[in-house]
Amino acid sequence: MKLLIISDCHANIDALQAVWEKEKDCDYILFLGDMVDYGLYPKETVRWFMDRKEKLFAVRGNHDEWILTHRDDPKPKEPLTNFQTLTFSQLGREEYDFLASLPHETAFTLGDMDVYMCHTPDELSNEVFFAEQQMSNLQMAGFVEERFATKYPQGQKDKKLLLYGHSHLQWVASAGQGRWIANPGSLSYRFGSFEPVRCADYMVWQDGDFGLRHVNFDTTHLYHQGQQFTNPEAARLARAFYRKKGESL
Ligand SMILES: [Fe+2]
Ligand SMILES: [Fe+2]
Repeated sequence: MKLLIISDCHANIDALQAVWEKEKDCDYILFLGDMVDYGLYPKETVRWFMDRKEKLFAVRGNHDEWILTHRDDPKPKEPLTNFQTLTFSQLGREEYDFLASLPHETAFTLGDMDVYMCHTPDELSNEVFFAEQQMSNLQMAGFVEERFATKYPQGQKDKKLLLYGHSHLQWVASAGQGRWIANPGSLSYRFGSFEPVRCADYMVWQDGDFGLRHVNFDTTHLYHQGQQFTNPEAARLARAFYRKKGESL
């Protein structure tokens, strides 16, 4: 069985398609949250997941949650960011309904594995996020084991996978007794940076082990397509985010 494990796509359809070109023979897609926001193609991205829902297990992230919470909010406390404005302008009823159908966490069995997935195991107190900055993989495995042991799936299968995203930091550790902890990283960003990258991080589970994978994607399409957005905000974002080094807006 081959699992494609991805997270923190942040409305990046080009990264998704580049990953899919390489991994479309997977049996299941496991997505760990932050489908939208901080990217230029929220509608296409949500529809990409909707089109594959027969083989998809997914949870919502904090950015998905924010968009859902504020979509009908006429007076948000904070001014909307450019990305939030863009996301609201693109998503329709079907995409919102799909996002709203995603749970905060989920547990299920696949073959000889019990799987638990969430966007972050500490419900955004960011304890895990900060620990990841200071600890080795082995230390992190111990930390998560100690603090979040109850998050491990409780089934009877030989292998137990605890999967989460949010920090955009790719790492995996075996915690012994068939227990694994893994964060596939982000398709769009790197840990601690809001500058988008041109290489998507993700993971594949196959033959009883994790593969840490990376694929470059071409942002030329994003850059040029962005200039043609009728939404001037989107065009400005495309220039801002995908301009070449040293190029002015
Ligand atoms: Fe994220
Ligand atoms: Fe997040």
